[in-house]
Formats: sequence, structure tokens, C-alpha cells
Amino acid sequence: MTEQRPHTSTMSTPPPAPIRWPAEAIWEAVAPLLPGFTVEVLPTVDSTNTELMRRFRAAGPAAAEPVLLVAEQQSAGRGRRGRAWQSRTGDSLTFSLGMALQPADWSGLSLAVGISIAESLQPQVPATDQPRIRLKWPNDLWLADAQGERKLAGILVETASWGELRYVVIGVGINVRTLALTPAPQLDDQPAALAPAALQDILPGIDVAQALALVAAPLVQAVQAFGLFGFAPFQARFAARDALAGRAVQLSDGTEGMAHGVGENGALLVHTAAGMKEITSSEVSVRPVFPGSARPC
Ligand code: BTN
Repeated sequence: MTEQRPHTSTMSTPPPAPIRWPAEAIWEAVAPLLPGFTVEVLPTVDSTNTELMRRFRAAGPAAAEPVLLVAEQQSAGRGRRGRAWQSRTGDSLTFSLGMALQPADWSGLSLAVGISIAESLQPQVPATDQPRIRLKWPNDLWLADAQGERKLAGILVETASWGELRYVVIGVGINVRTLALTPAPQLDDQPAALAPAALQDILPGIDVAQALALVAAPLVQAVQAFGLFGFAPFQARFAARDALAGRAVQLSDGTEGMAHGVGENGALLVHTAAGMKEITSSEVSVRPVFPGSARPC
């Protein structure tokens, strides 16, 4: 007699489909403009910024060839001001662009990067409309929707020198699918109760590979333009998406004022009781003050 077992079907989750990164298409678009350019995808790394800086510090000029390093997963992603940047394979696009750069003035580079990413993700905005993807000085992209403004992406720009050679690493993290992290990550300048925004909120169905295809080549061009002309040509484009302009803000030292856009060098202009202040340090945190809130968030 054979033993009769009740039939059970095990509901195991199938492994996620491999991500089809558009490495070749990006290389074909960028290499003619940037000789030596390569695209590299790693299944996992501590942080794409850390990895590129490590390579440059170890080998200097030999590791300064332009590279777009994409990580499917970061185990120690970094945000600004020493914060962690949490991400999950398939939910978040995490990459860094490393290249030698010699601008006459570095101020405003992270703003130029933000402009490029925002315009790539939401290019056509009728002049009468407020763009939904906005720039929160100096390094954040926000998405505006019925829930208010929530962080969509962050930028971490780091530089290193080897003799006369200046090397820049531009790290970008974009929330593509709603992050299901526990506990919800505490993101810069955003109330804890609000989950971060996701690109799929504005581009339904987009995945991390498609998001990279949209942003990568325009980003390289923007960085090259910044290297030649600095921030000035980006100023009006920033103004079109400036999330803080005309709003009450509070600086990390407690000073309050009204944001008045950015200057030619990318400095944030804040009208305070003591007059107009130019905020240049990205280490200064700026928070919009929401009317009626007990504390700015
Ligand atoms: C911030 O908003 O504080 C900046 C976040 C930057 C995150 C990106 S993800 C790719 C790159 N590698 C990192 O470790 N950080 C940047």
C-alpha cells in the first residue's frame, strides 16, 4: 500500500528576472563624446561612490578613465552628511559616474546634475505647468503629488586629486519602485511619516534599466557642459524646477528666511532678517517651513 499524502502545492516566489541593463546603448551614445568611456554593472558592491574613489585613490591617473558604474545592490550606500542610502535590487537605481573634470569653478555641479536627471525623467513641461519633478537645493529631486512633495532621488558628488588631476564621482540614487524597506528610511528633509516617492508614480511600469537608459547619456553631456561653462547656463533651468523659490525656509543654524532662487554660481539666495544670505555650503541643510507645522520638516 502506498502512503497517501494530502496534495500540497508549495508557493515559492520565483527568482527575479535578470535585469537587462542598456550598457551597450549607453556606451554607443556616450563613447564618441567621451573617449575611453566604459559602462560597468556589478551585482553588488558596498557603494558605487566608494568603489570609484577607492580605485582612483589606489591608481590615480590609471583609474581616471570615465566610467559609469551601476550596482544592482549596494551594501553600504552613502548619502550626504554621512547618512546611509538604502536601496533594494530592482526598486532603486544606484550608479556613479566617475571622470576627470577641470571646471574653472566647481560650484553648482550637483545642481547641474539634478537638472539633467529631472529633465531626462520629465522632459516636456508646458510653460504654464509646474513641473512635478522639482529640485530641492542642493542635491535632491522631489516629486510633487497629492501627498505633497516627497524625495524621489538624491545626488552625492565627491572629488579627489592626484597632483594636478581632479577626479569627480557623481553618485545618483533614484527610487524607481516604492521602497518596501522596514523601517522606512529616514530621508533628508522629509517628514518621517511620508514614504519616499517612486519614479513609477509618474512613469508607470518603468524599471531600473529603463530609468538608466533615460538619464545616463544626458548626464554625461551635462557634466561635460558644466566642465566647459560652469553653472551659469544651468541657472534658468534650475529656476524652472526650483522647489524652494518663494518659500519660507530654515537653515541648519536656525536662521529663517525666504528662498529667492540661486545665483550664477549655484548659491542659494535666502532673504533673512539680516539681509540676503548666499548659501554655498552643501553641508548647510535647508528645510522648507510648512505653514501651521510646529517644527519645520
Ligand atoms: C543623498 O540624498 O543624501 C544622496 C544619495 C546618493 C545615493 C547614491 S546611490 C549611488 C551612489 N553610491 C552611494 O553610496 N551613494 C550614491
